[in-house]
Amino acid sequence: MRQYLLLIILFFISIVFLTDCKNSFSDGKYLYETHCQSCHMPDGIGLRGLIPPLAGSDYLKNNYEKLPCIILLGVEGEMIVNGKTYNQPMAGIPELGTMDVALLINYINHQWGNDGKYTDFREVEANLQKCE
Ligand code: HEC
Repeated sequence: MRQYLLLIILFFISIVFLTDCKNSFSDGKYLYETHCQSCHMPDGIGLRGLIPPLAGSDYLKNNYEKLPCIILLGVEGEMIVNGKTYNQPMAGIPELGTMDVALLINYINHQWGNDGKYTDFREVEANLQKCE
């Protein structure tokens, strides 16, 4: 009997955990739709020659630690994404909270076939200390 009880408890814990993950993904999607998709497009492909893609972006993958700074403070100057050069400033969105930034990063790192890292609140805070 005890074992069954344990199984049932485990079952409920995993349900709660799974729905939680699903929610944070849709929160990330919502944030993306609100703040990013007008430029980077719903399917993350950017705008040819002007706005770099997020879908399949090597820059996104290789500059994982810079993402919180890019999102909050923006970025400018030449950058090469998947072999193409871009040079248009992107404004930051300083009103976003640390948690929003983490949700956004997890969303763009796992949408459109992207297979990047997962981040969390603490890591975002640590990476924000390194902004130039
Ligand atoms: C007003 C248009 C605009 C908005 C809104 C915008 N970006 Fe950008 N983004 C750009 C441009 C332009 C660049 C290229 C900057 C450069 O050339 O230095 C860029 C570059 C990037 C890069 C690095 C290059 C790449 O494609 O991997 C990331 C990551 C990124 N943006 C994420 C985001 C996220 C996340 C949001 C929403 C929070 C966002 N951007 C909102 C225009 C925008």
